[in-house]
Amino acid sequence: MAADANVPPGVARARAALKDVPHQPGAKKPDAILVADKVVRRFGGLTAVNVGHIEIQRGAITALIGPNGAGKTTFFNLLTGFDKPNEGDWTFNGSPLGGVAPHKVARKGMVRTFQLTKALSRLSVIDNMRLGATGQKGESFWQGLVPALWKAQEQEITARADELLARFKLDAKREDFAGSLSGGQRKLLEMARALMVQPDMVMLDEPMAGVNPALTQSLLGHVKSLREDGMTVLFVEHDMDMVRDISDWVIVMGQGEVIAEGTPDTVMADPRVIDAYLGAHHDGTAHDPDEVAAEVEGGKSHE
Ligand SMILES: Nc1ncnc2c1ncn2[C@@H]1O[C@H](COP(=O)(O)OP(=O)(O)O)[C@@H](O)[C@H]1O
Ligand SMILES: [Mg+2]
Repeated sequence: MAADANVPPGVARARAALKDVPHQPGAKKPDAILVADKVVRRFGGLTAVNVGHIEIQRGAITALIGPNGAGKTTFFNLLTGFDKPNEGDWTFNGSPLGGVAPHKVARKGMVRTFQLTKALSRLSVIDNMRLGATGQKGESFWQGLVPALWKAQEQEITARADELLARFKLDAKREDFAGSLSGGQRKLLEMARALMVQPDMVMLDEPMAGVNPALTQSLLGHVKSLREDGMTVLFVEHDMDMVRDISDWVIVMGQGEVIAEGTPDTVMADPRVIDAYLGAHHDGTAHDPDEVAAEVEGGKSHE
């Protein structure tokens, strides 16, 4: 791509790196931070995830899209240790991550946020942030760990938490219960909390869902800034305008499999992708077909 003074360095770097990658499911990337092979997760008779091969390019923003029920959240759960596959393995930064518990995955530099936010509503914003430093495992783990960690690192952790709260404009809410925040502020808190472990890769499951339009731009800006800071982002999102706006690369899942990959423009024009959304409608799982076709084709964004 031509050098353009208006293109931020992180964007130019990511797009140049992906320029020659074939637009094919499972395509090899020049510098993959995450590589997964034959990852299968069944629920009874349903195969929710069946990913043959996937590579995520370091330093890029990759969108994972697909109709409801395609297996995106389940795939996130597997990769981050919140669920176990029936088969498959994957490496992150070259080391195997299959079977590794979520807090250890986080400490290896891969963190995720949830489709439904998991901020602990009865804790203050600042305490949610401090707990993020332990690698976002659930309650029982950090109750044991935190006291020891506190003694050694409390000040450093608090300083980092305050820095992130300022960056995410949540500093005024520092002492408030997380439960008192708006949906959008909770998404911001969750993203800020994920950054407490100074990750290499951030996985965001529907970061914009339920976010008031006033906060959407700010959230998008934060996601873009992660790329400028050299982080890798993998995110699930339904809004195709946002996918188009922020992603360097798009991977499409349908019925558990990767069915297409490429730049946002090629993927959204791909008949297989449109079919996948329509197919999901026929099983009664999602979406009005006309709306979906318009959305996938990007009709909304190109007036
Ligand atoms: N814990 C579970 N038990 C049984 N089925 C599940 C479970 N989690 C997800 N599924 C099923 O797996 C499929 C994929 O779901 P999910 O990963 O949530 O899709 P997506 O995030 O793409 O909408 C769906 O058919 C869903 O109903
Ligand atoms: Mg989901």
